[in-house]
Amino acid sequence: MNQNRPAKPTGSLLERAAEIYDFADALRSKATPVVPTPSAVAAKAVDSVFRPTADERPVQSVDQSALRQAGFVLPDGPISGLSEEFRIIKRQLLLTAAGGRQGEKILHAERILICSAHPGEGKTFCAVNLALSIAAEKDVEVLLVDADFAKPSILSTLGIAGSPGLMDALADPAMDVADCVIRTDLPGLFVLPAGRQTNADTEYLASSRTGAVLNALTAPYPNRILIFDSPPILAASPAAALAGHVGQTVLVVRADETTETALRDAVGLLAACDNIQLLLNGVKFSPGGRRFGSYYGQGGA
Ligand SMILES: Nc1ncnc2c1ncn2[C@@H]1O[C@H](COP(=O)(O)OP(=O)(O)O)[C@@H](O)[C@H]1O
Ligand SMILES: [Mg+2]
Repeated sequence: MNQNRPAKPTGSLLERAAEIYDFADALRSKATPVVPTPSAVAAKAVDSVFRPTADERPVQSVDQSALRQAGFVLPDGPISGLSEEFRIIKRQLLLTAAGGRQGEKILHAERILICSAHPGEGKTFCAVNLALSIAAEKDVEVLLVDADFAKPSILSTLGIAGSPGLMDALADPAMDVADCVIRTDLPGLFVLPAGRQTNADTEYLASSRTGAVLNALTAPYPNRILIFDSPPILAASPAAALAGHVGQTVLVVRADETTETALRDAVGLLAACDNIQLLLNGVKFSPGGRRFGSYYGQGGA
């Protein structure tokens, strides 16, 4: 991290991350640099037995008060600095998912990996907040995938009961991943649990079945965005394998904690994804900086 250069309080968390880490060279080979203006089926197995679809299974309740207490941004919550930052980040990701400003379609840009170098840097925090923010969109739904197979935390964060998930579907060719998708009582928010960890998670993720399984989650749903909550890239190998299946990666950097060396190593390991953006998490807002909450009349940002 460049300690000599003070972080400017202007610009979104994506822009400020790019400034602080000066990553132009490392990301130059990647397809899409940070945009300066951020406003900027499963083919159902034909069974003779009845198998309910996600729409027909019971809806699971999200523990919204626990989320609120933990600092997450609920769709109907007050406008705050954090909610506006996630809106800006979401807009940019959705723009890329829809084909970008120039209409240059990135393959599987609707699949977004939320990654970071180390544990505790805010991957799950950002993945859940982004999913909640995207769920509030009128034309888009979001499937939040827990891909941290060793330490899954999406279900406990949302207060949802455990059930089979992605790794189960990858390990068992007879299983239909669509049957693992949980519909929640938050409109537009679906969840895919991690499933049971195996000792060959990375190999399963690198297998050709993964492409088919992920296609079953996206192909029939043109308005669906997938958000993957990933394991730390420098601590576990599945993240690098996942990078090969997504069109966008958000690399979370914890302000004042993530070193530039760790970040460069992380970018190197994520080479399978051409479109990496840095997201600065845990940044303190300076008094003179942008404060969306106060702009909207909500007091502190
Ligand atoms: N911007 C933030 N504001 C408040 N709490 C945060 C923020 N980012 C992370 N946290 C908290 O820090 C802890 C670690 O974050 P988490 O998202 O679980 O990290 P990771 O998934 O990268 O291991 C969690 O308790 C989370 O709620
Ligand atoms: Mg996590």
